[in-house]
Amino acid sequence: MKKSCKILLLPGDGIGPEIMEAAVKVLEAVSKKYDVQFEFQEGLIGGAAIDQTGSPLPEETLKMAKESDAVLLAAVGGEKWDDLPTDKRPEKGLLGIRKELGLFANLRPGKAYTALLDASPLKENLIKGVDLLVIRELTGGIYFGEPRGIEERNGEKVGYNTMVYHQHEIERIGRLAFDIARGRRKKLTSVDKANVLEVSALWREVITNLHSDYPDVELEHMYVDNCAMQLVRRPKDFDVIVTGNLFGDILSDEAGALTGSLGMLPSASIGEKHALYEPVHGSAPDIAGQGIANPIAMILSAAMMLDITCKLPEAARDIENAVDKVLEEGYRTGDIWSPGTKRVNTKEMTELIIKHIL
Ligand code: IPM
Ligand code: MG
Repeated sequence: MKKSCKILLLPGDGIGPEIMEAAVKVLEAVSKKYDVQFEFQEGLIGGAAIDQTGSPLPEETLKMAKESDAVLLAAVGGEKWDDLPTDKRPEKGLLGIRKELGLFANLRPGKAYTALLDASPLKENLIKGVDLLVIRELTGGIYFGEPRGIEERNGEKVGYNTMVYHQHEIERIGRLAFDIARGRRKKLTSVDKANVLEVSALWREVITNLHSDYPDVELEHMYVDNCAMQLVRRPKDFDVIVTGNLFGDILSDEAGALTGSLGMLPSASIGEKHALYEPVHGSAPDIAGQGIANPIAMILSAAMMLDITCKLPEAARDIENAVDKVLEEGYRTGDIWSPGTKRVNTKEMTELIIKHIL
C-alpha cells in the first residue's frame, strides 16, 4: 500500500495562493516519483478568512488542522486589514493556530547558496559556507504573556505586555535544540538578555542545567544585542541558535537576510502532536497577483514537511538539490535577480525545479 500524508493547505493572503500552487505541483511530482500519496484539503486563514467568515482563524480551519498530519501555510496579512484592532487582525490567525496546535518550536534554517553569494548584503568571504539554524520558542514569551493591554492610568494611556517563561517551556525547547545540535555541528548558542531581564536569567539557568545531559554539545550563552552584531560580523561561527519568541522573531529575519533573500527561507513549526510548515517571508501585497513571487521558500517548506512529518528524507533532499541546480543554471525570480542571470516567473521557476526532481 502507498504511504499517505494528509495535508491541510492554508494559502492565506497576498502572494499566498500563487506560491501554494507551486508547492502543490512540486508535491504532486514527488508523489509520482515516490511511493507516497498526498491527501490535500484547503482551509481559510488570515485576511481571506476574515473576509469570508469574520474570523482570522475559523473553527473549521482549526478542526481540519487537528485532523491533518501537517499544515502547509503560505502567508497572511495585508494593508486591507491593517486598521483592525490587534486581536482581529490576520496575524492573530497565525498566532492562534500556533498556540492551538501547541507548535512550541520554530525551526528557521539560514543557508548560504553558492549561486546567490552576491545577493547577500555581506562580503562574500563572510557569507560563504554559512549554515545555521535558528530555533525560536513559539508559544510563550511576550507574544502570549498576561497581563497585556492598553489602558488609561492617571489621565494617560499606558500599553504593556509581559515576558514570561515557565521552566518546562524552556526545558522543552532547550532539549529539542540540544538534540538537533547533536545531529549537526554540535554547537548551541542560547540567546537571552540575562543582564537585564529576570525571565532571561531563568532561561540561562535552565539551559545551563540541561547541558549536563549533552556534554558532547558545546554550549555558549549570548546576549541578544551582541548576537545581532555577531551574526553580521561572523555568521559562520553559528550552528544552532536557541532563543525565546520575540528575540527569535527578530534574529531569524536577520539571519535570513544575511543569505540573500527572505524569498528563499523555509520554516517548520513543530509541537508534540502537530506540525506546520511555512515560508519565513510574508504575503508581499505589493507583488500579489502578478505571478512573479519567488516560490522557493514555500517549496523548501514543503521539503521540510516531507523530511520531518512525512518521513521522506530522500524526497526532501531531492527538492533541495533541484533548487540548488536551478539556481546554478542561473534562473532567478525578481527578488534574487542580478545582471547576467535569467529572470523567470513563479510558474517557470516551479517547472524548472520539477524538471530536476523527475
Ligand atoms: C513571523 C512573523 C509573525 C511573528 C507575525 C506575522 C505575527 O513575523 O512568523 O516571524 O511575529 O511571529
Ligand atoms: Mg517575523
